[in-house]
Amino acid sequence: MAGDLVLGIDVGTSGVGVVALDQDGRRVAHADHPVPLATPRPGWTEQDPEDWVAAAEAGLREVAEAVGAERVAAIGLSGQMHGMVVLDAADRVVRPALLWNDQRTGAAVDAITNAVGRSRLIERTGNPAITGFQLPKVVWLRANEPDAFARTRRVLLPKDFVGFRLTGEAVAEPSDASGTGLYHLASGTWDAEVLGALDLDPGLWPRLVRSDEIVGGLRGAVAERTGLRTGTPVVAGAGDNAAAATGLALGRAHPQVGSVSLGTSGVLFAALDAPTPDPDGRVHLFAHADGGFHLLGVILSAAGSLRWYRDTFAPGRPYDALVAEAAAAPVGAGGVTFKPYLAGERTPHLRPDLRGSFHGLSLATGPGDVVRAVLEGVAFALREAQGVMAPLARPERWLATGGGAESDAWLEILADALDAPVGRPVDEAGKPAVVGAAEGAAWLAWRASGHAPDRAPRAGSWTEPASERREATQAAYARYQRLGLEAH
Ligand code: XUL
Repeated sequence: MAGDLVLGIDVGTSGVGVVALDQDGRRVAHADHPVPLATPRPGWTEQDPEDWVAAAEAGLREVAEAVGAERVAAIGLSGQMHGMVVLDAADRVVRPALLWNDQRTGAAVDAITNAVGRSRLIERTGNPAITGFQLPKVVWLRANEPDAFARTRRVLLPKDFVGFRLTGEAVAEPSDASGTGLYHLASGTWDAEVLGALDLDPGLWPRLVRSDEIVGGLRGAVAERTGLRTGTPVVAGAGDNAAAATGLALGRAHPQVGSVSLGTSGVLFAALDAPTPDPDGRVHLFAHADGGFHLLGVILSAAGSLRWYRDTFAPGRPYDALVAEAAAAPVGAGGVTFKPYLAGERTPHLRPDLRGSFHGLSLATGPGDVVRAVLEGVAFALREAQGVMAPLARPERWLATGGGAESDAWLEILADALDAPVGRPVDEAGKPAVVGAAEGAAWLAWRASGHAPDRAPRAGSWTEPASERREATQAAYARYQRLGLEAH
C-alpha cells in the first residue's frame, strides 16, 4: 500500500484530535480542534455532529499539510461511545446529538427494561439498559420528539457519522455497536429480539463491519478541502476505550495486562475471550476491536475529584504541592474516607443520583489527610470495579494512563488499592508513550493496510503494591465499603 504513515481521528467530547503515526507507531504530527458542548438543561449534553466533521476536516488539513498527503496510506476512526446521531431521508442531521454522559433517559431505560427484561438484556447484549447508551436515547426521541423521530431514517454513532461524511458509507463496527444496548454479542449482529420488543425498525441502523475493515475512500469534496488524496482508504476503527486499548496493545493476545486511566473519569479495561457478562450487569461488557471482548469499569469522577477538590478548597495551588501533602499523610488518611460520587456513579452502582462525601473528619484531621482521602477514595472506587471484574477477567498488572497517572504518589496508592503492579506505558524504545484513542485508531488503519507488527503491552517500570502498607490499605478499603451510598 502506498504511503508510510497512517492517520487516526478521535472524535472526543472536548474536541477532535488527528494524529499521524509511522510504521513503528511514532507520532509524527498531530492537531486538535475544540468542539462546543451544549447543556440545554441540567443533565442533558449535546453536540452538533457537523461540528465534529468541521473539526475533523480542519485537523486532517493541518496534519496533511505537515506531513504531505502522498505519505498517507489510510485513516482510522475512533470517538466517544454511546452517542445518538439521527439523519433524515436526505442525510441531514435531524437534531443535535445526545452524548454518552446525557442523563435524560431514565424513563426510557425503565421502558426498555420492562419490555425486554433486565437479565435477558444482560445475557444478550452484555449490559442492562443504561441511561448513557444509545438505545434509550432513541426510545426517548420517539416519546419526546415524535416529529424528529418520524423524520429519522438513520441512527449513527459519533465516529461512524464522521466516517459517513468522509466516505459516503454508513457503517458500525463491534466495539462501538456493543455500546448501544442493541447489539447481540454472541452473534455479532443488531439484536432483533430487543428491537422487536421495542417495535423499532432494524433498518435505522447501518451495516456492521470489522473494526479493521476499510469502509470506503475519501470523497472528492473532502479531499479537496483537506488536501488529502481522493479515495484514501478510511477504516472503521473503534470506540475510544477499545481504540485506546488497541494503542496499548491490550487484547486477547495479552489478557494478563489491563489498563487503568485516571482522566476526568476513571476507566478500567480488561480483555476477555468470550462474551461472559457479570450476571448483575455491574460492569460493562463490550466487543473489542480484535474480534474478542472486554470488560469496562467506568467511575465518573477520578482525576475530576482532585480537580474539584483543588478548585473548591485550594484554588490556584499546584497539583504537585497538593499531592506531596497527601504522600506525607498516613495510609488510611487518618481515618478520613472520601466517596467520589461527585457526578453520580456508573460502575459498579449504576446510580446517577449518588453524591460524594467526606467521612471521619476530626480535630486531628490535617490538610494532607483530606487530599490523601480524595486520592484513596478514587483508587478504592476503581478497586470496587476491579472486584466485580475479578471472577471474569483477572489482569495481573495494569498500565496507567491519563493526567492522574503522572503522579508517583497516586500510582503508589493505586497499586496498593488494586494489590497489583501498575506502570506507565512506554514505546518500543522505552520512551514514555503518548497513547490515546487516536493512536489506536491509527493502528487499526495500519492493520487494515496489511501492516500488523507483533506488539506487546510495555511499562517503563512497575510500581509494586507494598506489603508493609497492605494491612492499613485493607482496613481503609473495608471502611470505604462499609459506608453507605448517599443519594441526593
Ligand atoms: C464508556 C464511556 C466513555 C465515553 C467517553 O462507556 O461512556 O468512556 O466513551 O468518550
